[in-house]
Amino acid sequence: MGARTALVTGGTGGIGSAVCRHLALKGYHVVAVHHPAETELAEAWKAEMTADGFNVETMALDVSSADACRTTLVQLLAERGSIDVLVNCAGITRDKTFKRMEDEHWYDVINVNLNSVYNVTQPLWDAMLEKGFGRVVNISSVNGQRGQFGQANYSAAKAGMHGFTMALAQEGAAKGVTVNTVSPGYVSTAMTEAIREDVRNAIISGIPMGRMGSTDEIADAVTFLVADESGYITGANLPVNGGLYMS
Ligand code: CAA
Repeated sequence: MGARTALVTGGTGGIGSAVCRHLALKGYHVVAVHHPAETELAEAWKAEMTADGFNVETMALDVSSADACRTTLVQLLAERGSIDVLVNCAGITRDKTFKRMEDEHWYDVINVNLNSVYNVTQPLWDAMLEKGFGRVVNISSVNGQRGQFGQANYSAAKAGMHGFTMALAQEGAAKGVTVNTVSPGYVSTAMTEAIREDVRNAIISGIPMGRMGSTDEIADAVTFLVADESGYITGANLPVNGGLYMS
């Protein structure tokens, strides 16, 4: 068996980059998807990864566009034969109290965080079933499990991701295709750096472990779930949140 191919959306972002590094270290052939507007940044990212010894490719794709995803991913599949691992990690925040939330705050977050999961998974799904092997991991959030003040849009999208996981897990179960969710808590990335400092400090003081998570801690959970040995785990929601929410 040749190296498995892994596609990581949001692959050049905070958590996505760590996922790419961990999977490359395990021998996966990694394709990191980035937004077409960030091609220059992605080139720099790739150069850095290459310099660090990680063998990764980049691919520009607007994951919020169903048409773009279908065209690009059907072609990628034809070139590669199979995409064995898909990590849906693309995500944005547009935090607003609900009374200040405007249409674009809602729709941008639903399109990028939730509709993208449909757009990207759908073109790759049949081939996983036919191959009799596949791993899909959806990166959700603690805030999809417990809600968060100022994140009606984000919490809705992230909760929706796990609903999708549970439904699709049932469709893949008899075919060797597992679908799971990883729900990170607050992780040190540009996304959490953007939270107002006083608010961020208050959040950290409420985390039982008293600190944010690292991107490596999330990538470890993803690497575990996509391993061949994890084939009996499907439809699960694995929290990696320092004790912030327990269910
Ligand atoms: N619960 C109850 N009340 C709260 C509250 C909370 N959690 N947070 C704030 N409030 C209250 C405030 O005390 C304040 O009350 P008063 O008007 O009586 O003083 C009022 O609500 C307004 O609060 P802010 O001053 O914070 O309002 P704002 O408009 O300046 O900011 C906000 C709103 C941008 C949503 C800000 O509250 C915020 O950034 N909150 C954090 C959101 C968050 O956790 N985002 C996570 C981003 S990272 C991520 O999403 C990754 C992941 O998966 C975890």
